[in-house]
Amino acid sequence: MKEIKTVAVMTSGGDAPGMNAAIRAVTRSAIFNGWKVFGIYRGYEGLINGDFKELTTESVSNIIQRGGTILKTARSKEFMTPEGREKAYDSLLRFGVDALIVIGGNGSLAGAQDFAREYDFPVIGLPGTIDNDLYGTDATIGYDTALNTIVECVDKIRDTANSHDRIFFIEVMGRDAGFLAQNSAIAAGAEAAIIPEDQTDIDQLEQFIAHGCRKSKNSSIVIVSESKKGGGGGAMHYAERVKNEYPEYDVRVTILGHLQRGGSPSAFDRILASRLGYASIEALLEGQRNIMVGIDDDKIVYVPIAKAIKMDKPIDKELIDVLGVLSI
Ligand code: F6P
Repeated sequence: MKEIKTVAVMTSGGDAPGMNAAIRAVTRSAIFNGWKVFGIYRGYEGLINGDFKELTTESVSNIIQRGGTILKTARSKEFMTPEGREKAYDSLLRFGVDALIVIGGNGSLAGAQDFAREYDFPVIGLPGTIDNDLYGTDATIGYDTALNTIVECVDKIRDTANSHDRIFFIEVMGRDAGFLAQNSAIAAGAEAAIIPEDQTDIDQLEQFIAHGCRKSKNSSIVIVSESKKGGGGGAMHYAERVKNEYPEYDVRVTILGHLQRGGSPSAFDRILASRLGYASIEALLEGQRNIMVGIDDDKIVYVPIAKAIKMDKPIDKELIDVLGVLSI
């Protein structure tokens, strides 16, 4: 196995609060071990175009508290083609990079996996996404901050919902995963959550109405996952249905959108990102390749990238029961 002297780090896919803390940790841990570090700008686009810049301990100063990613990010169509990946490989050779660290979500790690297999190139993935949808890690970088942002917004919406005796359908991100929806519903004391993982024959809207929406309360908050999987239709869809099927209710919709991705990372995300970034360099030192570094029961774990992206991460049924009982 080739000795590692130079690594490159990049962020890819949707930005997530804490990515900067991860870049800082990777950079400083690599430099601590005497390695050279390159930052790649705009994800796989920058990898293809050779948009590399050497990172020093100073270039990652004063970023741990900042949201977004100083390396910028992108979703690259070209990297999905063999020609794009060949150009990416050429860039890595040109800059003398021995290993690549990719901070991103499902799609980004899937790209990393294809590349690592095709070119037998050492790649380490770090879970960076607000969606928390990577298998093998209890948390992903950015999830905790986004969850807190959602809860803060829902608290505010509750004030107006309550004043007007309205039902609010609040749509949250998560792509096809319901972690943000389910846990924000519990944390904000919402009356229900509609998530893709809980699609059964029972209509979740019917269930919410039947469970006594407004029987004991004057207003209701329903958190709706943005996912359209399994017949889910987003907040607008459910609001329209209520308007048609239960015209006696006064309904409003709020789609939280990209504000969920912004803001200064929480202490939890900063610590997680710092631990995972440090562990990515330790993993390379141990000879690990093509794994995602995650956290399980507060311990660092190495998960084969193939497993992290392919396996479905289940939502604990207990969370569904907790919300169901506490929202009576
Ligand atoms: O994967 C992160 C995420 O924020 C998802 O929750 C959401 O579906 C998607 O990215 C939005 O992507 P874009 O920024 O391209 O609109």
